[in-house]
Amino acid sequence: MQTKLLRPSEDPTAIEQAGALLRAGEVVGIPTETVYGLAADALNPQAVARIFEAKGRPQDNPLIVHIAEIETVHEIAADFPPEAQALAEAYWPGPMTIILPKLDRIPMVTSGGLNTVGIRFPSHPMAQAIIRAAGTPLAAPSANTSGRPSTTTAQHVMEDLNGKIAAVVDGGACSVGVESTVVSLCGERPRLLRPGGISLEQLRAVLGEVDVDRALREKIDDSEKVSAPGMKYRHYAPKAPVTVVFGTPKTSADYIYAQLGENSGVLCFDDCAARFQNAAVVETFGPSDDPEEQAREVFDALRRFDETDCTEIYAQCPPSDGIGLAVANRIKKAAGFHIIDLTEEEA
Ligand code: TXA
Ligand code: MG
Repeated sequence: MQTKLLRPSEDPTAIEQAGALLRAGEVVGIPTETVYGLAADALNPQAVARIFEAKGRPQDNPLIVHIAEIETVHEIAADFPPEAQALAEAYWPGPMTIILPKLDRIPMVTSGGLNTVGIRFPSHPMAQAIIRAAGTPLAAPSANTSGRPSTTTAQHVMEDLNGKIAAVVDGGACSVGVESTVVSLCGERPRLLRPGGISLEQLRAVLGEVDVDRALREKIDDSEKVSAPGMKYRHYAPKAPVTVVFGTPKTSADYIYAQLGENSGVLCFDDCAARFQNAAVVETFGPSDDPEEQAREVFDALRRFDETDCTEIYAQCPPSDGIGLAVANRIKKAAGFHIIDLTEEEA
């Protein structure tokens, strides 16, 4: 299959072409404010099956359903409780996914066999335009090969999926850079399943208490049952093994400097890069005091290691507040929770 690169900035028919492909049951890479998505008609099981095939994604990992107006929730979810409405009003359109009980219209292949569905109303104008052109809610996981870092440019999507999908719509680089926050409203209390573009503090400002899923703190064994099935798979990982070092920029840099061998790579803050002249590969992901910029750069930086020959990677990591929680989560997952924690020594 020839993958078509559609450019709305040059071609006024690009969005309509994407919509027509989606209506015909094809899979299309689309820009969103978080990361690129691999979209198909969420109500068409054959179309959704093609997403799993193109990504090499395990069948029990549910997909997020994307909508372009809040009212569509009533066509997808069996219930739209007041807390969900309050969240939607505060943070939609935007980088937040709400898990609700699903209606039968959503096929089991879309929900990974669960009776719930993740719903998101993205803020990216092209994402909204494509959903409207398709005339149906769109199921879309991140547009990467399963296990690789998520994609934040159309070029990344082509790297992973060229020849496997009908088209990619080029909307430039994503403005948030890490995926949406996933919050479940299906249990007794709201539960954060994945940190993302909307912070835990922002969720608590609307909901009061929010539990934090265990999968955010520790590595989950493959055989265990987890609330967000996606959290159990090795994820975001470059080919070389990653060790993440928690501490201040200075203490983590000192520690990493002392570990470096001949083929070591370092993922570090911009302001620490000069420290690692002895490393084989140095990739930076933004200033140490700017977690928003780190979010925009982290996946691209992780991807660049795969173009090098380094055999091990040491990574710096921001503190876990605001969007830093999401950045730290992605780096910890890339490291398979292989963590050196220097923060206690500092205290
Ligand atoms: O920002 C995003 O959310 C991007 C863009 C494309 O919208 N999408 C994305 O999808 O990151 P994906 O499939 O890569 O990650 C979705 C996460 C997975 O961890 C999945 O297990 C969880 O959300 N999830 C989806 N539906 C769920 C459900 N019904 N119950 C529990 N977890 C769910
Ligand atoms: Mg993903």
